[in-house]
Amino acid sequence: MLDLNDRVIMISGANRGIGQAVAENLLEAGCRLSLGVRNPDQVDEKLLASDQVLVCQYDAADPDGALQWVEQTIAQFGQLDGIVNNAGIYRAVSIEEGDEEDLDAMWEVNVKGPWRLMRAAFPRLKQSSQARIINIISLSGKRLKSVGTTGYAMSKFAARALHQGCRQAGWDDGIRATAICTSFVKTDMASEVVSTCPEDVTRPEEVADNVRFLLAQPDHATINELHINCRLEPEY
Ligand SMILES: NC(=O)c1ccc[n+]([C@@H]2O[C@H](COP(=O)([O-])OP(=O)(O)OC[C@H]3O[C@@H](n4cnc5c(N)ncnc54)[C@H](OP(=O)(O)O)[C@@H]3O)[C@@H](O)[C@H]2O)c1
Repeated sequence: MLDLNDRVIMISGANRGIGQAVAENLLEAGCRLSLGVRNPDQVDEKLLASDQVLVCQYDAADPDGALQWVEQTIAQFGQLDGIVNNAGIYRAVSIEEGDEEDLDAMWEVNVKGPWRLMRAAFPRLKQSSQARIINIISLSGKRLKSVGTTGYAMSKFAARALHQGCRQAGWDDGIRATAICTSFVKTDMASEVVSTCPEDVTRPEEVADNVRFLLAQPDHATINELHINCRLEPEY
């Protein structure tokens, strides 16, 4: 396992849910963090107080946002070793229900957001000796469980294609990428999908433990895709 101490990691959407849990975990592991969030004042106080943490205003839907965030990160830390593409949205869109604007919004945030961020970060990641990308996708990027999630799954299938693209594009330069595909995680988003999020679902802190583990894998033991299940899905 690699030492994560002092590694510089960017995390999108780190003000709540999985992103916040990942930030707390990686700070504890000794990483230096650049948090990209829409509202910096919503970042947890403990993270805000740390001199190892930079908080940047970042909107995944802003075409210039990714480059500006990468530049701020380099200005502060002088290097970049990893990104966690976590920011995402869920909107209920199916063939017969839901708005086309919501479909566009999911494409913008769930697919183009990470694409822009990787495009902006790649030149810097290539200079790192331990460059890593963690793409928080979803099991909705692999299968469709309910009609209402059609539009979300469309965006997450595309995000998984993007994951494969970045994995191949970065391999020769030592950039290693892992997609995390989870079922329900107990966050605000899960409550948007089901009216009552069951108690026995994966916790954001458990996803964060896995992110830490994945970042510590050496170049020659990289994991392409990790599935996290809270209930049995025999094929996944
Ligand atoms: N929860 C689940 O069951 C589940 C399962 C599988 C995969 N996932 C994926 O896990 C990731 C994190 O989701 P979560 O469960 O932690 O959801 P969450 O609690 O709803 O958090 C979503 C995060 O994304 C940020 N975000 C949304 N739109 C953004 C934008 N335009 N620019 C920058 N940040 C934006 C939010 O920021 P604001 O506070 O500003 O809105 C928030 O920090 C997402 O990619 C999601 O698709 C979740």
